[in-house]
Amino acid sequence: MHIQLSEEHLMIQKAARDFAKDVLKPGVIERDEQQKFPAEEIKQMGQLGFMGMMVSPEYGGGGMDTISYVLAMEEISKIDASASVCMSVNNSLVCWGLEKFGTEEQKRKYLVPLAKGEIIGAFCLSEPEAGSDATSQKTTAIDMGDHYLLNGTKNWITNGSSASVYLVIAQTYPEKGHRGINALIVERGMPGFTVGPKENKMGIRGSDTHSLMFQDVKVPKENRIGEDGFGFKFAMKTLTGGRIGIAAQALGIASGAYELALAYSKERKAFGKPISEHQAIAFKLADMATEIEAARLLCLKAAWMKDNDLDYNEASAMAKLYASRVAMWVTTEAVQIHGGYGYVKEYHVERLMRDAKITQIYEGTSEVQKIVISRSILG
Ligand code: CAA
Repeated sequence: MHIQLSEEHLMIQKAARDFAKDVLKPGVIERDEQQKFPAEEIKQMGQLGFMGMMVSPEYGGGGMDTISYVLAMEEISKIDASASVCMSVNNSLVCWGLEKFGTEEQKRKYLVPLAKGEIIGAFCLSEPEAGSDATSQKTTAIDMGDHYLLNGTKNWITNGSSASVYLVIAQTYPEKGHRGINALIVERGMPGFTVGPKENKMGIRGSDTHSLMFQDVKVPKENRIGEDGFGFKFAMKTLTGGRIGIAAQALGIASGAYELALAYSKERKAFGKPISEHQAIAFKLADMATEIEAARLLCLKAAWMKDNDLDYNEASAMAKLYASRVAMWVTTEAVQIHGGYGYVKEYHVERLMRDAKITQIYEGTSEVQKIVISRSILG
């Protein structure tokens, strides 16, 4: 077994680390406080190739592997999980889904600008009454011959007001259950499509989360992704890869908090020596480092399986389940190591602790990951 990153991997990791430190870090506290979407920063991420990393160069992407994507996601997430969720949705859910299942016309029209980061995309599955139970779609896409008539509401949509392209999952034949669901490409500005107010969230406050309303939106037939009725499988297959991205986000949140706690523990003195020299703190750091390394290996394993065309459904669910748990635990410990300073904004760890929680909720709650894993191991 070969566990070593290539020169190229290390270069991508460094580029992401430098960008996060130099560009994302300076305004991250203010963006969190003001719930400000990092629009300018995301544009720069597009120019650097972080918004369509795995897309083939033929369609404007970086042609990189999933391991590179995991490495970049970890580095960006160490500093700014609001920017990284935008990056993750664009890469894993929108670009990957379009490249894998879109028509040539759809790829030329939508994937190319998305992969170049000229525009960003959103993935619209969740509804007021369909979160974990994703087959219970109430949004309808009625077949009108040359177009679908789209009606309904989507909830918790990342990039909700910043996106130009939305992949919307909707029910066409309710009697067919999940086999009657379609995935449609909806453009911002199509008549009848409105964006609701921004959600006031606990964490990832710079990210742009909205409800979306569709009232008699006419979506051309050529905007359907895949065969008639493929929409639910499209969503599941896309989310399987998406979970690797969110696992890497959780990993980054954890390792960002750990690095801050490690540095602080060497500076802060108590009882006559740096707190890192007290076993109570040194043992915490040892546990944190070990948990993070285990989460990293699960992320890299899932990415490697995807890159090698193996079935990565169970591996991605395990990576997300474990890394999100580690993120929650490590960030809490990082606040504890910082003491009172950890509880104020300028030390960053309280934000990372708030950001960590969402990784146990979106792209499938921890309970959903356990459904996927238990079904896989039980057969
Ligand atoms: N790949 C391919 N096909 C899959 C699949 C996968 N990973 N998982 C399920 N399917 C297929 C099944 O084979 C089945 O098809 P057949 O009947 O033809 O065999 C069909 O899909 C239905 O599958 P299930 O019977 O397993 O469906 P279920 O109702 O029991 O649900 C679930 C399974 C895992 C709980 C699923 O509903 C799920 O993943 N729910 C969570 C949804 C989710 O992650 N939402 C996140 C929203 S997106 C987001 O958060 C983005 C963001 O903003 C950051």
